[in-house]
Amino acid sequence: MRRFVVFEGLDGAGTTTQVALLRDELARRGIAAETSNEPSNGPIGSALRAAIEGRLRLDPVALALGFAADRADHLFKEDGVVATLDAGRWVLSDRYVLSSLAYQASLGIDAAWLREINAFAIPPDATIFIDTPVELCLERISARGGHIELFEGRERLRAVAELYQGLLVDERLTGRLIHVDGARSVDSIAQEIREQI
Ligand code: TYD
Repeated sequence: MRRFVVFEGLDGAGTTTQVALLRDELARRGIAAETSNEPSNGPIGSALRAAIEGRLRLDPVALALGFAADRADHLFKEDGVVATLDAGRWVLSDRYVLSSLAYQASLGIDAAWLREINAFAIPPDATIFIDTPVELCLERISARGGHIELFEGRERLRAVAELYQGLLVDERLTGRLIHVDGARSVDSIAQEIREQI
């Protein structure tokens, strides 16, 4: 059976931490899981990261197409997500299509068009949505230090949070939805994810 598990949430929600913890837990049980993240570490992902960090200016339409192109690249390249799944290994992805539908729509991009340009993307088997309040995400982002990224302002994150809530009801996008309360300790969130998975 295919095991493609996607993690979603706001910036600062803790998806990266939880991806690593689930991967380690699966490894302890003898299950090999690859992790992937979006934006990817590939060439298109690097340009997207530069835009998110403010080192490069990209028009929101170009950004939406860029995220879709990056997704296609890391899904379908030789050692990509699809090849890994076909080989029987699990893939845990830090962000996926839902991020585009929430973040790019928050910049005013048309929702139907966003779905269209992502229609190639295989659906996940499960989505873990780490539901962390905006204020807590903002605290974590500022505690991290460094500069504030493109989507990390209060109003933007609020808009993204609202868009996410509207998308989570669509099972074709999420697969099985595991909706976890993100305002708890790292350990208790990890435990809930472990039990659900
Ligand atoms: P990243 O530094 O990975 O964020 P975090 O570790 O906080 O999750 O940057 C991902 C950023 O890119 C985040 O602000 C969300 C945004 N993003 C999009 O706007 N569209 C997308 O399709 C994806 C995958 C990410």
